[in-house]
Amino acid sequence: MAQSTGRVAGKKAFVTGGAQGLGAAAGRRLAEEGARVCLADINLAGAQAVAAEINAAHGAGTAFAFALDVTQEDQWIAVLEQASAAMGGLSVLVNNAGIGGDGPLETLDFALWKKVMSVNVDSVFLGAKHALGHMRANQPGSIINFSSIAGLIANGNSPAYNASKAAVWLLSKNIALYCAKQGLDIRSNSIHPTFIDTPILDPFSERFGKEAAHAKLGRQIPLGHIGEPADIANAVLYLASDESKFMTGAELKLDGGISAM
Ligand SMILES: NC(=O)c1ccc[n+]([C@@H]2O[C@H](COP(=O)([O-])OP(=O)(O)OC[C@H]3O[C@@H](n4cnc5c(N)ncnc54)[C@H](O)[C@@H]3O)[C@@H](O)[C@H]2O)c1
Repeated sequence: MAQSTGRVAGKKAFVTGGAQGLGAAAGRRLAEEGARVCLADINLAGAQAVAAEINAAHGAGTAFAFALDVTQEDQWIAVLEQASAAMGGLSVLVNNAGIGGDGPLETLDFALWKKVMSVNVDSVFLGAKHALGHMRANQPGSIINFSSIAGLIANGNSPAYNASKAAVWLLSKNIALYCAKQGLDIRSNSIHPTFIDTPILDPFSERFGKEAAHAKLGRQIPLGHIGEPADIANAVLYLASDESKFMTGAELKLDGGISAM
């Protein structure tokens, strides 16, 4: 196959939560621009389906799928080893897997609080901790952590989601400074989307009907509508590429203007 001249040609990216939604969109976009990608998810069948679709479009060996629960350190260690072997290294880590679903403070079950914190925050710590060893050998590198606009603006209804995404925001900066201090050409930045059309919005759509739910959410956004997965995938592409080589410890808000208010 001819050498790709894409914006991330030669990059080797590991994307968590790659079976659907924003992780799958990021995997597809990175592959379109010349990267090899590993899609890791607790939903292995979903990740395999996305990998097969990418390979059909861009050639066998472009995408790989792995089972990974991002809260489990032993799984991270084993899967990163396998992913790195499959792609011939690792230069981009996309910590995308995350969950919502918590509720008001006084009725929120402690077990659900801990689950949201673990999936959203432990994942970023464990991913960065264990990916850096592989990324050192594949510089320049980029770590892209999924926070949310809810990590910067509280909403009074989802304390675990707010707290976990705020933790990801500052943890990203910590990782950025750690890497810089180590003299590594490995950057770390966070992404902060507002409502984007993915299955994460299903509970809301089930309650109000999809069209009405999206319209209701869109009314909160200055641009007047919710975002598309491609809006976020393009930001991941930019942060994964060397076009963003002077950007580290920063946050990229993709929120239709909500945080400007
Ligand atoms: N869609 C939005 O409106 C929105 C807005 C702001 C931030 N985000 C963030 O973007 C990220 C992706 O969201 P999405 O909308 O694509 O969600 P989604 O629910 O569509 O997809 C999440 C994926 O993560 C996987 N996952 C869940 N728990 C996991 C675990 N323990 N280990 C491995 N994989 C796991 C799921 O199987 C799923 O494939 C999340 O971190 C989310 O908080 C989304």
